[in-house]
Amino acid sequence: MKKIFISVVSLILVMNANVDAQKTVPLYQNPKATVEERVNDLLSRMTLEEKIGQMNQFVGIEHIKTAEANLTAEQLKNNTASAFYPGFSTTDLENLTKEGLVGSFLHVLTIQEANYLQSLAMQSRLKIPVIFGIDAIHGNANAPDNTVYPTNIGLASSFDTEMAYKIARQTAKEMRSMNMHWTFNPNVEVARDPRWGRVGETFGEDPHLVTQMGIQTVKGYQGDLNSENDVLACIKHFVAGSEPINGTNGSPADLSERTLREVFFPSFKAGVDAGAMSAMMSHNELNGIPCHSNEWLMTDVLRKEWGFKGFIVSDWMDIEHLYDLHATAENLKEAFYQSIMAGMDMHMHGIHWNELVSELVKEGRIPESRIDESVRKILTIKFRLGLFEHPYADEKTTMKIRLNSEHRQTALEAARNSIVLLKNDGILPLTEKYKNVLVTGINANDMNILGDWSAVQKDENVITVLEGLKMVSPNTHFEFVDQGWDPRNMSPEKVNEAAEKAKSADLNIVVAGEYMMRFRWTERTGGEDTDRSDIDLVGLQNDLIEKVAASGKPTILILITGRPLGVEKAVEKVNALVQAWEPGMYGGEAIAEILYGKINPSAKLPITIPRSVGQIQMIYNHKPSQYFHPYVVTSSEPLYPFGFGLSFTTYKYDNLQLSGSEISKDENLEVSVDVTNTGKMDGTEIVQLYLRDKFSSVTRPIKELKDFARVTLKTGETKTVHFTVSPDKLTFLDKNLKPVVENGEFIVMVGSSSREEDLLKQSFYVKE
Ligand code: BGC
Repeated sequence: MKKIFISVVSLILVMNANVDAQKTVPLYQNPKATVEERVNDLLSRMTLEEKIGQMNQFVGIEHIKTAEANLTAEQLKNNTASAFYPGFSTTDLENLTKEGLVGSFLHVLTIQEANYLQSLAMQSRLKIPVIFGIDAIHGNANAPDNTVYPTNIGLASSFDTEMAYKIARQTAKEMRSMNMHWTFNPNVEVARDPRWGRVGETFGEDPHLVTQMGIQTVKGYQGDLNSENDVLACIKHFVAGSEPINGTNGSPADLSERTLREVFFPSFKAGVDAGAMSAMMSHNELNGIPCHSNEWLMTDVLRKEWGFKGFIVSDWMDIEHLYDLHATAENLKEAFYQSIMAGMDMHMHGIHWNELVSELVKEGRIPESRIDESVRKILTIKFRLGLFEHPYADEKTTMKIRLNSEHRQTALEAARNSIVLLKNDGILPLTEKYKNVLVTGINANDMNILGDWSAVQKDENVITVLEGLKMVSPNTHFEFVDQGWDPRNMSPEKVNEAAEKAKSADLNIVVAGEYMMRFRWTERTGGEDTDRSDIDLVGLQNDLIEKVAASGKPTILILITGRPLGVEKAVEKVNALVQAWEPGMYGGEAIAEILYGKINPSAKLPITIPRSVGQIQMIYNHKPSQYFHPYVVTSSEPLYPFGFGLSFTTYKYDNLQLSGSEISKDENLEVSVDVTNTGKMDGTEIVQLYLRDKFSSVTRPIKELKDFARVTLKTGETKTVHFTVSPDKLTFLDKNLKPVVENGEFIVMVGSSSREEDLLKQSFYVKE
């Protein structure tokens, strides 16, 4: 009897223990455990298939449906902007997500879809949330109803790194409020070819400026990568796609290791040091090895040399392209093998990944430990971002964060600071004496001011140039002659109509440039995959400018474009030229404010503007021999140099002082200069410091930007601007690519642009 009693008691105890065990939350779901403990625990519970699924990313179901509805089968096959998974339906994708075999989605544009897809992932065995990635390049503009700031090239024109931080921070908040966790930005490529359509999404041609903007952007997005307002940044594209051999996106890059290390690597290395936890490889091959299978780039440089701890994602179909384009892999499976073994962690969409990678592991070609390495990094980010605790965003509160008044104000301020005045014969700022103003040109009244990487936004959230003019100068009559949005299909009649109306106007404003809006993917002339064999104004735009200016009435030209345009002929005909880039949602207001002198322009060019395509490569920081033999017939000078931009006031630079004329190799040199606002309007000047190593064991650029400062000065005010030249600014790579500071003379140049006549100069010497 006693025995029976004991057995019953033990049975009850065992049953209770089982119930408790079932109730016990697995370690990985305990937010109090460390991220490392959680990752280890989760990894130990995952099947091989679940692990490989974490490394895979798909476009969202709405994206697939839209592509399927709008494009022909042939277009879908050839159009890299619209993913298409032949034989794989949206239901298949939903099921895969429920099985826990999808790690990430991209191109999900609404909170509803994001929450829905996440709810599918939450039905999976281990409930691992998906991470949503999106190209939030200038605000989360690619999705509707978000704040749209100027694109990176405009932001770089402000030389305002604090603004870069602020925009990234605000973008992170808007993204998280709609359940987006990962932005494919900053693009920290150094853009050295304006034929390439993607210049607008870069910070321009200078390694130092790109680096500084990149660092602050990474910091702004990520915070400490620990809160519900942080998003994962992605430094991209690694590397050298911004100097493609023929200017076209993804064509080969053939560059020496010296150029890579001096020009293209520093901004990526700085991004890693700033804590960026994801990186994207670039489409192109580099010196014969596609970046997507480039072990030197992914493993040796990024991870081993720089200590990158985040994960690497492939770009659009680029692992596939090892097989179907570069032809370094004989089939898809081999392509996956090459890429993973070179260091790839996540595959940007495409089917077959899960099964083929699984086969590769089972065949013993890829060790499971290699898969674990990648999955560990991806899970670490998911834990750090709090996705396990907060897989959803709140549909009720999202619109309180997106487009809030603080963010809108930042967009306006950023636009004001990004617009570069390149020519002004005195006509600007405008007064109300011009009663009748003709406004024309493809970008005069179009949402295209939003720029590339933007969805169509609600009309009420965009101020076009025409609308801005009417707001800023309500007593002026603006006569609008619509030229349509499409530079390639302008009508000669409309051009003539504008020319006719110009005769009776007091002033003409032509808003020209390129067309970048993504919803008309195949009709664009600027942005991703719109590379050009010239850099002229497309269509009848030159004709329009010429005919309007022939009226004899003053004419102002405004350019909306992401890349520099060689507008030499047009410039001769106009009284003022405004380079407005892609200024974002309030671009029209900011442009009008500048034209009417409500805002004093302060921006400077972050990239050289060549006169013509034949001058390419044209960069300010070229080697001494580049123009030893200048071009015959045409000029060897740029149309506008790097760092150049006019203001409505004037600034005087004097009293350039160095802390000494000699320093040792590990010493800092202090530099100061007095800058005075000598004109009649308060303003902000961007003070630039360049260095040249006068004689060196390997050739060095004729000058290199090493520091800059934004200084606000009231009329008549003088401020002393201080810079520190630390040894790293004097360092270059010697014959063996080893960093070195050499003895000898260096020249410090400080001034308002990279142009010789704009710089004060002084020498100093480095001694042993
Ligand atoms: C671009 C990437 C982008 C990706 C996802 C690719 O075509 O090269 O920069 O992040 O698409 O949209």
